[in-house]
Amino acid sequence: MYKIILLRHGESVWNQENRFTGWTDVDLSEKGLQEAQSAGEVLKKEGYVLDLAFTSCLKRAIRTLWITLDQMDLMWIPVERHWRLNERHYGALQGLNKAETAKIHGEKQVKIWRRSYDIPPPAVDKSDPRYPGHDRRYKDLDETAIPVTESLKDVVKRFLPLWQESIAPKIQQGKRIIIVAHGNSLRALVKYLDDVPNEEIVQLNIPTGIPLVYELDAQLQPIKHYYLGDEEVIKQAANAVANQGKVK
Ligand code: 3PG
Repeated sequence: MYKIILLRHGESVWNQENRFTGWTDVDLSEKGLQEAQSAGEVLKKEGYVLDLAFTSCLKRAIRTLWITLDQMDLMWIPVERHWRLNERHYGALQGLNKAETAKIHGEKQVKIWRRSYDIPPPAVDKSDPRYPGHDRRYKDLDETAIPVTESLKDVVKRFLPLWQESIAPKIQQGKRIIIVAHGNSLRALVKYLDDVPNEEIVQLNIPTGIPLVYELDAQLQPIKHYYLGDEEVIKQAANAVANQGKVK
């Protein structure tokens, strides 16, 4: 039996301002820094040990990982940063306030953009500064891999090669792994691991900064999963994420 830890980054400044973030590289808020610290503390307290870490190319996830590893006195373990773990690209919604967008387009439409499996938000133009092709960190990517917007389905598709080629083989070699990523790149992972039906994935909201443990069998089929934390607090945090797209 294998265990992997999934962790959504701590609250970011744009989470706090309730803005669509996607590939925008915003940092953690004060609360987010504390959440990362608590995540490290709980992992240490529960006796978790890690050999290897995967994260995205975005600083809210990278800093969460740094703080978590610092708390666990594991800053020395190898870290792989990969764009395939980046948040879902939110297209032309990036930067907009979620509640304001719901006021303009309706809560139903915003929920479709946020949670549907295969409907992407409106795309950005390639001349738009929000197009990742302008960012040096993605310069080696094939143009066809650089998103102008993404549905969750697109994220599952771009995440899978990393899972199959890097993460899964390392788990099967016995490496104890943490993946620090984002609300929707982790929804993509959960969708794949648990084979969640398209209409059910709409209900899944992952809170910031709370470690989620997946126990996997020898074939990496999930046995069970659980958050490390108080059930009621976690339920409220997941509900708060769902409610970000409602008119205030
Ligand atoms: C974002 O990119 O705005 C968040 O990280 C995730 O947003 P969502 O919960 O609205 O999908």
